[in-house]
Amino acid sequence: MRILAIETSCDETAISIIEAYGGLKNPRFRVLGNKIASQAAFHAQYGGVFPMMAKREHSKNIVPLFLSVLKEAKVLKINPKATFTTVQENKIKKMLEREPEMLDLFLEKISRLAKPRFDVIAVTVGPGLEPALWVGINFAKTLATIWKIPVIPVNHMEGHFLSVLMQKNGKNLPAGKQVQFPALSLLVSGGHTELVLATDWLKYKKIGQTRDDAAGEAFDKVARMLELPYPGGPEISKLAAQFPKDHPQTIKLPRPMIQSGDFDFSFSGLKTAVLYLLRDMTKINPAVLQNSDTKREIAFEFQNAVVEVLVTKTMRALQKYKAKTLIVGGGVSANKELQKGLRMATQKEKIILHFPIKDLSTDNSLMIGIAGYFQFLKNKKRGKPLTSLKAIGNLSL
Ligand code: KG4
Ligand code: ZN
Repeated sequence: MRILAIETSCDETAISIIEAYGGLKNPRFRVLGNKIASQAAFHAQYGGVFPMMAKREHSKNIVPLFLSVLKEAKVLKINPKATFTTVQENKIKKMLEREPEMLDLFLEKISRLAKPRFDVIAVTVGPGLEPALWVGINFAKTLATIWKIPVIPVNHMEGHFLSVLMQKNGKNLPAGKQVQFPALSLLVSGGHTELVLATDWLKYKKIGQTRDDAAGEAFDKVARMLELPYPGGPEISKLAAQFPKDHPQTIKLPRPMIQSGDFDFSFSGLKTAVLYLLRDMTKINPAVLQNSDTKREIAFEFQNAVVEVLVTKTMRALQKYKAKTLIVGGGVSANKELQKGLRMATQKEKIILHFPIKDLSTDNSLMIGIAGYFQFLKNKKRGKPLTSLKAIGNLSL
């Protein structure tokens, strides 16, 4: 089946067209088109993502991005004479009244399109920034109305969980590395840090989560303190890699909640520890941030602290729940030290370990297409009534 997938939960506008087949037993995917418009550079000037600005950017980008995906998938057919009927136009105006930037482009460009063949539209409904989520949802609803295509609401975290099913060059997981249940998932992104146990496809139980900042958020905030650009995760990693491993360390940061008996996390205290450290260091040397050795050591020790906590708690959860597979997902899963730590720890235990490929670790719409397919299979081929589609900022798995 052919799926149009749409993702606008944070600062990436992403649209894909995929073919999905094989069912739950042997899910397979083929990418026909995949485009992403990142707002990271735009938000970098403010040091973070402001929901209303993200919404406006999605609203401006989504129609042109859609056209370019159709083109890539070779399903863009334009009829210069085609127009919407007055009834259609009025409906569209009503549906997109909160997205003025999108409305004009929609009326101008989409009216000229011949209807492409999509079996369903999969769209992220949460968790995420609600104003941003609404842009994708309203775009999906409007397309669904004019083209009469069912819409499947997708949980963004389910997308991260399933993102490992699409490996390099669109390949599937090799035979010996299929997901075996129970499977544990460490989902670490800018908005989330959670441990989720899956007893089967689509059967999840959250066993732990952050009580305050997400791991990626802590990376971003500490990067800001070190005067590094947004997003901070890759910047901190780069800097940390420059710290010589055999160099004696003078800085020590806490490993919050590493010994707590549960599977929750807390990264806000770690971030504050860096803040106090910098404040104390600045008292002695006001130009401390000009010292690249110090910055490297802070980045190194901060990254170590996050990785150590994530690896320790994940391993404990794997043991407790006798999980056979570990799936890591979300932007922070791209972190090389986290990958190395988990690889080393799981090797001894013979646990099947999966990371998403780089393009699928951060937010993307391919994973939304995959999750849409699974939801389609679960819900017996039906979409949800359009009126029930809503952005749910704190949607849980
Ligand atoms: O999954 P994602 O793209 O968006 C959310 O759903 O939040 O994750 C983005 C987060 C950002 O906080 C970014 O700093 C972090 O992932 N990140 C990393 C790395 N690459 C991205 N954190 C640590 N190391 C990385 N290499
Ligand atoms: Zn995400």
